[in-house]
Amino acid sequence: MVDLLALQKEFLLAHLREGDTAADFTMGNGNDTLFLSRTVGESGRVFAFDVQEEALVSTRAHLQAEGAPENYTLIASHDRLAEFIPTPFRAGIFNLGYLPRGEEKGVTTRRETTLPAVRAALDLLAPDGVLLVAVYPGHDEGRLEGEALAAYFATLNRYRFCASCFRILNSPAAPYFFVVETKEDRPLRHPGRAAKNQRRAERLAAAINAASRRLRGEGAEAAPNGESAGMPDADHPPVPVTQTDGDEGTGV
Ligand SMILES: C[S@@+](CC[C@H](N)C(=O)[O-])C[C@H]1O[C@@H](n2cnc3c(N)ncnc32)[C@H](O)[C@@H]1O
Repeated sequence: MVDLLALQKEFLLAHLREGDTAADFTMGNGNDTLFLSRTVGESGRVFAFDVQEEALVSTRAHLQAEGAPENYTLIASHDRLAEFIPTPFRAGIFNLGYLPRGEEKGVTTRRETTLPAVRAALDLLAPDGVLLVAVYPGHDEGRLEGEALAAYFATLNRYRFCASCFRILNSPAAPYFFVVETKEDRPLRHPGRAAKNQRRAERLAAAINAASRRLRGEGAEAAPNGESAGMPDADHPPVPVTQTDGDEGTGV
């Protein structure tokens, strides 16, 4: 059977290394904060956010009881994350919804703050980083948060991000999660292709310019390699040469 919590950890571990910076944007009782703190170790850094004093107290007690490395900073609402996270961070998690405490429901996350915070988090996410957002569609605000996030993630530039969703289809009220991974900063995968595309674009533009001069009866001689021997004029500007970086279209 699919274990969504185990799957979330797999995604975090695939990106997060000792010494990295990580963020728990909804610390609650601190379970995710503890996982991040242990994964990045003494040399790493974890920033954890929650609007409820109760969550900060509970998380601090949990981390101390578990002997977590002292690499964490506990902070208020995640909509102020950019003020507190000083460097690009490698991994972050939003576990939306209510603080788990039995029957009584208290403060929940809301679209008005979740959406801007997720956007701000993606702005700070390092290359080869990951942002997880767990959604609880069993209550109205949770369902609407999920829909708004799905619409937003679908607009992300696919050359910079890979956004996906893990959901149990035959259990529609069950929690599910989004994963947004940033692509690595990498040199062009096909540097030779960039130069070849550029030469092809130049040949094509020159051939079109030469053909249009011939059609206008200007007698421009086509050079043997297809380039026009004549100069373009103001009424008939030359076809521009399109620049290509040779790497577009090779992403997911
Ligand atoms: C589902 S709980 C998180 C559970 C937590 N990850 C854990 O391991 O226990 C959601 C938490 O988000 C918090 N929250 C709600 N609005 C918030 C905001 N604007 N900024 C940060 N946390 C917020 C709630 O107080 C609640 O504790």
